[in-house]
Amino acid sequence: MSRDGYRVAVVGATGQVGTLMLELLRERRFPAAEIVPFASQRSVGRELDGGLIVRGLSEESIRGFDIALFSAGGSTSAEWAPRFADAGAIVIDNSSHWRMQDDVPLVVSEVNPDALDAHRGIIANPNCSTMQMVVALKPLYDEAGIERLVVSTYQAVSGTSRRAVEELLGQAHAVLHERDIERPDAYAHQIAFNALPHAGSFAPGEDHTDEERKLINETRKILADPAIAVSATCVRVPVVTGHSEAVNVQTRRELSPERARELLEAAPGVTVLDDPDAALYPLAIDATGKDDVFVGRIRRDPGHERALDLWIVADNLRKGAATNAVQIAELLHERGLVHAGDAAARV
Ligand SMILES: NC(=O)c1ccc[n+]([C@@H]2O[C@H](COP(=O)([O-])OP(=O)(O)OC[C@H]3O[C@@H](n4cnc5c(N)ncnc54)[C@H](OP(=O)(O)O)[C@@H]3O)[C@@H](O)[C@H]2O)c1
Repeated sequence: MSRDGYRVAVVGATGQVGTLMLELLRERRFPAAEIVPFASQRSVGRELDGGLIVRGLSEESIRGFDIALFSAGGSTSAEWAPRFADAGAIVIDNSSHWRMQDDVPLVVSEVNPDALDAHRGIIANPNCSTMQMVVALKPLYDEAGIERLVVSTYQAVSGTSRRAVEELLGQAHAVLHERDIERPDAYAHQIAFNALPHAGSFAPGEDHTDEERKLINETRKILADPAIAVSATCVRVPVVTGHSEAVNVQTRRELSPERARELLEAAPGVTVLDDPDAALYPLAIDATGKDDVFVGRIRRDPGHERALDLWIVADNLRKGAATNAVQIAELLHERGLVHAGDAAARV
């Protein structure tokens, strides 16, 4: 780090996640001497809030960074993350492109921060549904182990794109005004006033969506336990922001709901909201704009003596993406893992 702080690139800075990453870097006072926003050629020259001017990606423009936060989709990450890393930056990537590579740590700040030590220039941020689930599962895993998870997600449209948010609002408006809706574009079917058992996409011949596979594979990688059995159904619902999940957790050893509640109340990044008599449980609209993962409806599964049921909610754009990326940058700084001098020397 130079005397004034790090040089930080934010790639995808005009998007939903990128905009929040810029905000969080400022809000959390990340020690940055300079923050440079990058986006597609469409946005080059655009002035963002706070006066930052968007740049385009080129061999010259990417030099001299210490840290690069990416949220510009898989193909941009595939092409440009290694180039940033070769030029000396540590890349923290939000796309799914690098997550399952053996030499790329997949890190949730409260769950497996030590995985950062093995980084080789690129660090992956998990999928949003996996992220919030593992934050809540980690304390239970440490206490009682996990044998099997049965997960049903209720995922917000901002997890798809800004365009999907506009489509939901446009369709809802059309239905309420008794007008025909335009042909769906973001999803295979109308999302307004509907629930689609199709979050993510089906590869040819696949009976699970890629979103469901991510939940299965990323959970095992983050908890470093390939023996955990995971059954996942990912559903898209007409919520703008905030993913909800019903999770059935079968532990290896006995764990009472009371002890689980105690563990969750003490867990970092978790807020327990669990008083069904008072209609108190986590809600997507309440989680929006917050960084914690909210857990409620903690109860014994009447069908299995070693299983609990949980309801887990978080803001998919914050803890599900931008917040965790910035927390990783903070951890790299705290652990002295950013060799900033190297980047400057390579310019
Ligand atoms: N949304 C979520 O809940 C969530 C959660 C976890 C991870 N993610 C991941 O985060 C990424 C971004 O998601 P988002 O919801 O923020 O998307 P978004 O709002 O559509 O933003 C996409 C961003 O990428 C930029 N971009 C597109 N093509 C580019 C290119 N060829 N070169 C450079 N920049 C390019 C866009 O720039 P322009 O404005 O110039 O087009 C924009 O800044 C995706 O990889 C997504 O999978 C999203």
